[in-house]
Amino acid sequence: MSLLFRGGEIVTPDARYKAEIYVEDQTVTRIGTDLSVPPGTEIIDARGQWIFPGFIDPHVHIYLPFMATFAKDTHETASVAALIGGTTTFIEMCCPSRSEDALAGYNLWKEKAEGRSACDYAFHMTVSRFDQNTEAQLREIVRDGTTSFKIFLSYKNFFGVDDGEMYQTLTLAKELGVIVAAHCENAELVGRLQQALLAEGKTGPEWHEPSRPESVEAEGTARFATFLENTGAVGYVVHLSCVPALKAAVDAKGRGVRLSVESVLPHLLLDKTSAERAGLEGMQYVMSPPLRDKRNQPALWSALASRLIDTVATDHCPFDNEQKLLGRDAFTQIPNGIPGIEERVSLIYTYGVNRGRMDIHRFVDALSTRPAKLFGLFPRKGTIAVGSDADLVIFDPTYRGVISARTQHINNDYSGFEGFAVEGRPAVVTVRGKIQVRDGNFVGERGRGQLLRREPIINWRSN
Ligand code: URP
Ligand code: ZN
Ligand code: ZN
Repeated sequence: MSLLFRGGEIVTPDARYKAEIYVEDQTVTRIGTDLSVPPGTEIIDARGQWIFPGFIDPHVHIYLPFMATFAKDTHETASVAALIGGTTTFIEMCCPSRSEDALAGYNLWKEKAEGRSACDYAFHMTVSRFDQNTEAQLREIVRDGTTSFKIFLSYKNFFGVDDGEMYQTLTLAKELGVIVAAHCENAELVGRLQQALLAEGKTGPEWHEPSRPESVEAEGTARFATFLENTGAVGYVVHLSCVPALKAAVDAKGRGVRLSVESVLPHLLLDKTSAERAGLEGMQYVMSPPLRDKRNQPALWSALASRLIDTVATDHCPFDNEQKLLGRDAFTQIPNGIPGIEERVSLIYTYGVNRGRMDIHRFVDALSTRPAKLFGLFPRKGTIAVGSDADLVIFDPTYRGVISARTQHINNDYSGFEGFAVEGRPAVVTVRGKIQVRDGNFVGERGRGQLLRREPIINWRSN
């Protein structure tokens, strides 16, 4: 099957031009004007629309046992929602707990996804303990093509590692050429602050943020950077939420630490007043690091525009209302997470590009090209070029809509972005040359997605 995209304007991080794209089988094989194509080629009219490389969400949770329950999506539901939203590849956190073996966890996560995802996917392998068996298992996982690790400095006794384990993980990662993503909060302080607040009878969701203040995240970020500096490993701070943590990351970048930074949709568009609402409404907005004071947002947006923040992910992590109510008596029991896999592209286009906070090239870079480069997917993914996978998003900038739980495709009963207006949406989306979305609707093949096996990083570049 061949496809010709005609009349659209191609956008990459460094170019914007009108051209036709010819796709044969799974690959872009020609880009040019007045291309002659064989009979039987399907012509897609992209006049008046942007053509973006398929977007990559580098931080999602789909199968996730966490806080006495399981995140709501399956690979079927999350991948269809991702595609409708323009994401053609996601990188899922494979998160075995501290009581499980890394390799058993890895095999379980692979099994959960195999044959079920409609878009392509990869994993970050969480190292939740480092014992005498871990090193050999991690080597095997890297040989299988999963070339990024994840560590949590928070969630003590569940996913969290101590400083010794962080050191061991980073040392191995350096040897293997593996990038390490880190959730940076000081676990000890969070635990102590939580207990102190509960002892004072402060049990509602509005106390979640004060239990994990900005300084606690800044400390975690600085400590992670110091460990990178002293091991020579390459790191990636996930879901950075506030100015003090940003300062710690920028300082580290400035002294040559090989560190990249991720922002996520909730921290850019929502603030702590949502989690301060009474009862369930507040619980829906509990995530970690928490939604912050709004005064942080201009600095996050501006760091994103100037590339001090590298990527925008979602940290998609859906728990429904019934699950959120597990924390009705204590904010420490509210399952942490806010969904967003479906809305990232349209929301950042609307509130980033259309509001003048970032240009369209940086938008493509932060949501597609940069994640592809950081995580070993480029140039197969993250660009529109001859030889690249034909993952394309034909984006209609004239579409107007409003986000609502009633129309979303993830498996959840609320949306963290309810009522947000969007200006533009993906109209047609392809995954390796197959049309998976038309007119904003999923029309594709559910099990099409492949596990992307990646090479270790050879030359990490700061930008
Ligand atoms: O609150 C969050 N972010 N939930 C998902 C787990 C994590 O920390 O990424
Ligand atoms: Zn996290
Ligand atoms: Zn996460």
